[in-house]
Amino acid sequence: MRVFVAGAAGAIGQQLLPQLVAQGHQVTASTRSPAKAARLRELGAEPVVVDGLDAMAVGEAVARAEPEAVVHQMTSLAGGSGLRHFDRMFAVTNQLRTQGTDHLLAAAAAAGARRFIAQSYTGWPNIREGGPVKTEDDPLDPDPPAAQRQSLAAIRYLERVVPAAPMQGIVLRYGSFYGPGASEALVGLVRKRRLPVIGEGAGIWSFLHIRDAAAATVAALEHGRAGVYNVVDDEPARVAEWLPFLAQAVGAPPPRRMPVWLGRLAAGEVGVSVMTQIRGSSNARAKQELGWQPAWPSWRQGFAGGLAAAEPARGAA
Ligand SMILES: NC(=O)c1ccc[n+]([C@@H]2O[C@H](COP(=O)([O-])OP(=O)(O)OC[C@H]3O[C@@H](n4cnc5c(N)ncnc54)[C@H](OP(=O)(O)O)[C@@H]3O)[C@@H](O)[C@H]2O)c1
Repeated sequence: MRVFVAGAAGAIGQQLLPQLVAQGHQVTASTRSPAKAARLRELGAEPVVVDGLDAMAVGEAVARAEPEAVVHQMTSLAGGSGLRHFDRMFAVTNQLRTQGTDHLLAAAAAAGARRFIAQSYTGWPNIREGGPVKTEDDPLDPDPPAAQRQSLAAIRYLERVVPAAPMQGIVLRYGSFYGPGASEALVGLVRKRRLPVIGEGAGIWSFLHIRDAAAATVAALEHGRAGVYNVVDDEPARVAEWLPFLAQAVGAPPPRRMPVWLGRLAAGEVGVSVMTQIRGSSNARAKQELGWQPAWPSWRQGFAGGLAAAEPARGAA
């Protein structure tokens, strides 16, 4: 299949391109940076330099590539930190999820593409009430912390327009990434003991190894139907469980513990929410409909052996 991958030089793109090429797909891959084009070529793709927020340039690049499928992996999250100003940190990503999606969808439709796959996220967007693990049929959070409202609105927008597109529009809600290129910032915070367990640490996180995110994307190119899929590992887990485990796995001292009132002062409402209230996600639909299985079924195995490795060691799974 001829595939156009927008935002291909990031953490997910670097895993995705070799997997697409290995499956026999012919890949055109975009970056804004001429300096990264050589890397995309090394990974087996035909590079194209384009800014995802420039509608005209996107239209031209996609038209030239004549893709049967278009994959939207554009985010702007490198170097971002500070949960307190979450929407500010996500401002460009939110634009890429709204305008960027519009430009790419229009270009895909004009080029006659049959399939469109877009990156979304699962974890904090879930409703923070009821059971611990949510499916795609559960509502998103009707009342997110104030600092996440714009980011949730951008996710809602993307998840509405993509499945409604005049082609197979598939949204992949990836869990929290870890793995090569994807967890160095998280591990850095853990090493410095700057990621405390707040309150009881009852927030539930769904993780995903970056290699498995790429594999699910390849599977969605071949098997998915229009709609939304949670792409997460098999073991949603409380902060109180995974954070001390991660600290131990990287040889860091155990995380600090902090009462909620102090957590609110230190990390704001979003910090308290992700540490104490958020819900996890089920991967049952992705497994059933995409025929996908995570090679790293649990963060336990992944934090122990997959922070720097793409594939599990033989016999470790
Ligand atoms: N589900 C998750 O947990 C999740 C999801 C996404 C990212 N992350 C994390 O966030 C961190 C940074 O991610 P990353 O390395 O993928 O970098 P990133 O800065 O988020 O960039 C990702 C891709 O989006 C592209 N992009 C950014 N702005 C663009 C624009 N205006 N037009 C076109 N393309 C644009 C980048 O292109 P250029 O080549 O032009 O820079 C890059 O290819 C990593 O730790 C990653 O794991 C986590």
